[in-house]
Amino acid sequence: MFITDPVTILLLILLCLFLVNIFHGSKDNLYQNFPPGPKPLPIIGNMHILNLKRPCRTLIELSKKYGSVFSVQIGIQKMVVLCGYETVKDALVNYAEEFSERPDIPIFHRIIKGYGFLMFRQKNAMKLYINKSFFSGVLFAHGENWKVMRRFTITTLRDYGMGKKILENKINEEYAILEKKFKSFGGKPFENFTIMNGAVANIMMSIVLGHRFNYEDPVFLRLIHLITENVKLLGSPMVMLYNTFPSLMSWLPGSHKAILENSLETQTFIKEVITKSKQELDINNERTLIDRFLIKQQEEKQESTNYFSDENLTMIISNLFAAGMDTTSTTLRWALLLMMKYPEIQKNVQNEIEQVIGLAEPHTEHQKEMPYTNAVIHEIQRFANIVPTISHATAQDVTFKGYFLPKGTYVFLILTSVLRDEAHFEKPDEFYPQHFLDSNGRFVKNEAFLPFAAGKRSCAGENMTRMELFIFFTRLLQNFTFQAPPGAELDINPAVGFVTPPMPHSICAVPRTQDQTTKEKIH
Ligand code: HEM
Ligand SMILES: *[C@@H]1O[C@H](CO)[C@@H](O)[C@H](O)[C@H]1NC(C)=O
Ligand SMILES: *[C@@H]1O[C@H](CO)[C@@H](O)[C@H](O)[C@H]1NC(C)=O
Ligand SMILES: *[C@@H]1O[C@H](CO)[C@@H](O)[C@H](O)[C@H]1NC(C)=O
Ligand SMILES: *[C@@H]1O[C@H](CO)[C@@H](O)[C@H](O)[C@H]1NC(C)=O
Repeated sequence: MFITDPVTILLLILLCLFLVNIFHGSKDNLYQNFPPGPKPLPIIGNMHILNLKRPCRTLIELSKKYGSVFSVQIGIQKMVVLCGYETVKDALVNYAEEFSERPDIPIFHRIIKGYGFLMFRQKNAMKLYINKSFFSGVLFAHGENWKVMRRFTITTLRDYGMGKKILENKINEEYAILEKKFKSFGGKPFENFTIMNGAVANIMMSIVLGHRFNYEDPVFLRLIHLITENVKLLGSPMVMLYNTFPSLMSWLPGSHKAILENSLETQTFIKEVITKSKQELDINNERTLIDRFLIKQQEEKQESTNYFSDENLTMIISNLFAAGMDTTSTTLRWALLLMMKYPEIQKNVQNEIEQVIGLAEPHTEHQKEMPYTNAVIHEIQRFANIVPTISHATAQDVTFKGYFLPKGTYVFLILTSVLRDEAHFEKPDEFYPQHFLDSNGRFVKNEAFLPFAAGKRSCAGENMTRMELFIFFTRLLQNFTFQAPPGAELDINPAVGFVTPPMPHSICAVPRTQDQTTKEKIH
C-alpha cells in the first residue's frame, strides 16, 4: 500500500518532526549535566579539530582547556574523555562497576550483521557467526557473559602458566629457536619481525592448541599476518570514519572492509581447530584451553545455562590472539630499539644479568634480585605506551566528579596521559629507567604505571606478559648486543596503529661470545 495523498504525507512529516523533537528533547535532558567540551558542528561533531591519526594528541591538548573530564562528539556520537592518572584511576578502580562496560562500536557490529558484499562472496563462512557471536568472548563482551568468560580466561591462563612453571619452560624452549634465527643473521642488519611475532604467538598457541608452529609454516604465517594487519588497521583513520558514518562508509572501499575479511578468515581457522579438538577430546586428559572449555560445555548440558557455546569459545580464542600476540611482540620490538638507542643502559642490564644469572636460564625468581633490569622493563612499557587509549562504557547511570553520565555513555580513557603524567614521572617524555629506581638503586613501584589499565576490565594477560617480557628480554641480552645498523638514525617516535609499534627499523643482533661475557665480568 502506497500513501499518495498529500495531506497524509504532510501529516506524517509533521508527526516525524514531532517525534524527533521529543526524542531530542529527552536526550538533551539526559545530557544536562554532561562534561563540557568544544562545540560540535552538525553531523560531523568535533571531527574537524581531531588529529585522526593520533587522536590522543588533540584530546590531551583539549584536557588542558576543559579539565580531566570533558566531552567530544565524533559524528553524532557523544563521548566522555578521561585524562590523567587521578581521574583514570578513580573511574577504573573506585567506580569499577559503573565503568565496566564496553561501548557498541559500529565496525564490530558490522561483523555480525550480514554485511552485504561479503555475504555474496563467502556465504558459508558468514553463516558461522552471523549470530551475536562477536559480543561473546571477553574483549568486547557485555554483562554476565563477559563476567563468566573473563573468569574462565583468567583462571585458565593462570593454571596453564603460573604455578606450575609450565609457561616459564615453554618460553625458554621457544627462546632457543628464536635465538638460532637471530644468530643466523650473523650480526648483519635485518628487519624481519615475523620471527619475534612467531615466538610470542607460539606461547599462546601452546596454551590454546597445545602445540607450536614452525616460523615458516604458511598457515601460521598467514594467521599472524591477519592478526597483525587487523590490529594495525583498527587504528587507521578510515576505521575511525567508518565508526562515525557506518552507513555511508560501507559503500566505500577501505581498511574497514579489509578488517572484516581478515576476521572472517581468522574465525574460519579457529572453527576448524575447534572441530578437530572435539574429535580428539579426552575428558580425563585435559591438555589445552580448548579442552577445558569443551569439558565445561559438556558439564553445562546438565545445567540449563548456555555460556560455553562454540561461538563463545571461538571469540575467546580470537580475542586472545588479537589482544595477546601483537602486544607482547610489539613491546619486545620497542625493547630492542630502545636498547640500541641507549647502549649504556643496555650495558648496565647486561652487567646485572652477568652478576645475578650468569650463564644459567633466567627464571622469574631472578627478577626480585634484578632491580635495574626490572626498572628498565617497566620503563620500556611506560615509554612504548603501546595501548594509548581504551574504550569503556558506563554500565549504569553514574555521577562522576560532579557530572552526570547516563548508562551506556561512551567513555574514552587516555592511558598515554597516565603513563606520561607529569605529576608522577619526573621526565615523562624521556626514556628514563630512574622513574622506577630510588637513589640506592632499589626498584620502586610507581602507582601511575598502568599499561595494563586497572580494575574489572584490566588486561587478562598481565601476569603472562610480565613473565614473557622478563624471560625473552633477559635471554636476548644474555646472548646478543643490539646495535643500530651503521649510519642509521634511530627514530623513537611511535608509528600509527591500534597498538602503537615503533617506526620501521633494522636491527643488528651481535652475538656475545662466552669469552666476551666472562671478560665483561672481570672488568
Ligand atoms: C604488553 C602486552 C599487553 C598490554 C600492554 C596489554 C594491555 C591491555 C589493556 C590496556 C587492556 C584494556 C583494559 C581495559 O579496557 O580496561 C587489555 C585488555 C585485555 N588483554 Fe591485554 N595487554 C597485553 C597483553 C595481553 C596478553 C598476552 C593477553 C592474553 C593472554 C591479553 C589479553 C587481554 C584480554 C582478554 C583483555 C580484555 C579484558 C576484558 O575486557 O575484560 N593481553 N590489555
Ligand atoms: C621472515 O622470516 C620468516 C621466518 O623465518 C620467513 O618465512 C620469511 O620469508 C621472512 N621474510 C622476509 C621478508 O625475509
Ligand atoms: C555466550 O554465552 C552467553 C551466556 O550469557 C549466551 O547468552 C550467549 O548466547 C553465548 N553466545 C553465543 C553466541 O552462543
Ligand atoms: C646464550 O647464552 C646462554 C647462557 O649464557 C649460553 O648457555 C648459550 O650457549 C648462549 N648461546 C649462544 C649461541 O652463544
Ligand atoms: C596476577 O597475579 C596476581 C598475584 O598473584 C593476582 O592477584 C592477579 O589476580 C593476577 N592477575 C591476573 C589478570 O591474572
